[in-house]
Amino acid sequence: MAVDVLTNRELSAALRTAVVAIEQALDALLPLPEGAERRLVEAMRYSALGGGKRMRGFLVMEVGQLFGVAHTCAARVAASVEMLHAYSLIHDDLPAMDNDDLRRGKPTCHKAFDEATAILAGDALQARAFEVLAEADTHDDPLARCELVMALGQAVGLRGMAAGQMIDMLAADQAMTLPEIGRLQALKTGRLIQYSAEAGAILGRASPHTRHQIAAYGRDLGAAFQIADDLLDAEGSVEETGKATGKDMGAGKATLVSMLGVERARIQARLLAEQAAGHLDGFDHRADGLRQLAEYAIARRS
Ligand code: IPE
Ligand code: IPE
Ligand code: MG
Ligand code: MG
Ligand code: MG
Repeated sequence: MAVDVLTNRELSAALRTAVVAIEQALDALLPLPEGAERRLVEAMRYSALGGGKRMRGFLVMEVGQLFGVAHTCAARVAASVEMLHAYSLIHDDLPAMDNDDLRRGKPTCHKAFDEATAILAGDALQARAFEVLAEADTHDDPLARCELVMALGQAVGLRGMAAGQMIDMLAADQAMTLPEIGRLQALKTGRLIQYSAEAGAILGRASPHTRHQIAAYGRDLGAAFQIADDLLDAEGSVEETGKATGKDMGAGKATLVSMLGVERARIQARLLAEQAAGHLDGFDHRADGLRQLAEYAIARRS
């Protein structure tokens, strides 16, 4: 599956358009208050509006357009998932977790502000992400809003991202089997990416069968995406990724790269990306952006 230059250009154009819509929504959804709490929202905006590829938000919008979802509704849900993601990065970078100083080419939130502010900014971003989903402007149908809230809760809580981060912390310097690493990665990264895809289908009131296909696409895409992240940690540069590299090996983190080596991990990422695209076989050309995204998830250098 060669990376076609033209289709890549199409993907970058679509991504750029989505990024603008997502950043506008984030800006509107995180207004700066007056008063002593202003610092909290400054820290939230610092991390939520501070760059990033916006892949999760793009997924919401790209799946949403398959089902004719209103652009403004999709942009709100995309902003919500990017807030949740920003929270996860702020906490992931804290000294108690990965202890990182650089994120998206800038000082991490706790470096730019302080640890207490970073913890609170993460907390408040997570809360705002759910609040936005529940607000009436997100969807006419309250049931759809409820489903979004439930699906996000399931993706990031005790059976999702937080569980994965717990296992990730416990796993440093511990031997793990391949299935155990696969589960860890599915929880810490895969579930939120799967949710991002499913959110577009929930907004579009897709049938259970169609939603299932989209979820399967998101699951395999998420798995491929985390292997690409681990590969970039092993062989990417700070300039490319905007974050410190070589950290996983330094911390004795169990990843597919530490387990299989770079070459086999790259093959595994490609297999998963192809498998992800395979779940879209029942969709027409309107799913081409999602097909290209699977390629981008593993070919990216940042
Ligand atoms: C980084 O996610 C954290 C992982 C789950 C691998 P991204 O690579 O999507 O980070 P940004 O949003 O583009 O900065
Ligand atoms: C982070 O995984 C996953 C979450 C934030 C939930 P990593 O620790 O590998 O992400 P980076 O490499 O710091 O972006
Ligand atoms: Mg981490
Ligand atoms: Mg980290
Ligand atoms: Mg990483």
